[in-house]
Amino acid sequence: MQMKTGKDLARPAVNAMPVKSYANAKAPAILMQELGLDELVIMNNNENPLGSSPMAIQALRDAAEEINRYPDSKNTEICAKLAEKYNVQPENILCANGADYLIAAMARAFLNPGEKMIIGLPAYAYYETQAQLMGAEVVKIPVNERYTFDLPAMLSAIDEQTKMLVIINPHNPTGVTISKEELADFMAKVPDSCLVVVDEAYIDFADPAVFPDVCEYIRQERNVLALRTFSKFMGMAGLRFGYIVAPQHIIAVLRKVVEAYSVNRLTQVACLAALNDEEFAAASRAAAEEAKSYLRGELMAMGCEVPESQGNFLFVDVGMDADELYEKLLRKGFLVFPCAAWGYPHHIRLSFAMPEQNRRFIATLKEVLGR
Ligand SMILES: Cc1ncc(COP(=O)(O)O)c(C=O)c1O
Repeated sequence: MQMKTGKDLARPAVNAMPVKSYANAKAPAILMQELGLDELVIMNNNENPLGSSPMAIQALRDAAEEINRYPDSKNTEICAKLAEKYNVQPENILCANGADYLIAAMARAFLNPGEKMIIGLPAYAYYETQAQLMGAEVVKIPVNERYTFDLPAMLSAIDEQTKMLVIINPHNPTGVTISKEELADFMAKVPDSCLVVVDEAYIDFADPAVFPDVCEYIRQERNVLALRTFSKFMGMAGLRFGYIVAPQHIIAVLRKVVEAYSVNRLTQVACLAALNDEEFAAASRAAAEEAKSYLRGELMAMGCEVPESQGNFLFVDVGMDADELYEKLLRKGFLVFPCAAWGYPHHIRLSFAMPEQNRRFIATLKEVLGR
């Protein structure tokens, strides 16, 4: 009898999925060991270089004694705090173990085989894999010349099979944003048969004067889901916490597919404490602003094209093979994100590090590029 492998037994939708790029990526500590590096400056994952809120770290220590108890499955205190912050009801919020978990939950809850999900290209890959896993078709609309989502083209692509449309604002990997006016125009035209997912993983870095308040549409009960994470601005990627703000009838559906204890007890106390730490938030904002202006200025002076970013990263045309540059920089102790898989073989996405590390990065890049 012939032995059946995992692949023989897997659902066809799983076999059709590409292997996740960062499931294969080596951890920084392993890279350092292999390359004999004393320091590796991590500029590839859009994390917060300042670390996390000291109040959150203290809350984690204080709560360590209670891990024998299950967490609050409703995330009551965090939902209340977030609801107050965004002027919605706690019932409009669903928390889970990271925004990625919620992307998977949205696909599982809403996408039937043969239905369509529209997304801009390049885009955060997890949307595509999760839609594929559900047997849905992914319709990709290239970004416009400003490198942001082409909302008119996305609207034109909507048909009877379209269940979901994803906007990432600010956009990852470019950092470019859709304005209040652009979103208002889009919302006036999009049919309610299509769920609009607005991924705002980087919202806290964006300028509120120009950035749209998507909760306005949620308060009007439009079929809009705002997705957020504590992995970036809040500096808590290692704890895994994300949430969705949406009308209650949408949250009620999603709640059915999200595991009750998805957010562990330590994450809950730390996230609540972090939400109260305005000092850390102000420091994070200031550090990102300073890094962005320094790095963008230096990169543009070196002749690199760098669109204005409202995130904690820059999308940089380095004018050479980005995979090759990645290898060279890695050997010199800097980890950046090459964008070939997104169709940009000459671009890297560069997250911000601490000021002295940013300066050393620029000096090293000048040396490598010979500029
Ligand atoms: C646009 C976007 N959405 C979602 C996520 C996932 O965030 P989390 O770490 O909460 O899973 C990321 C992480 O890089 C992201 O860039």
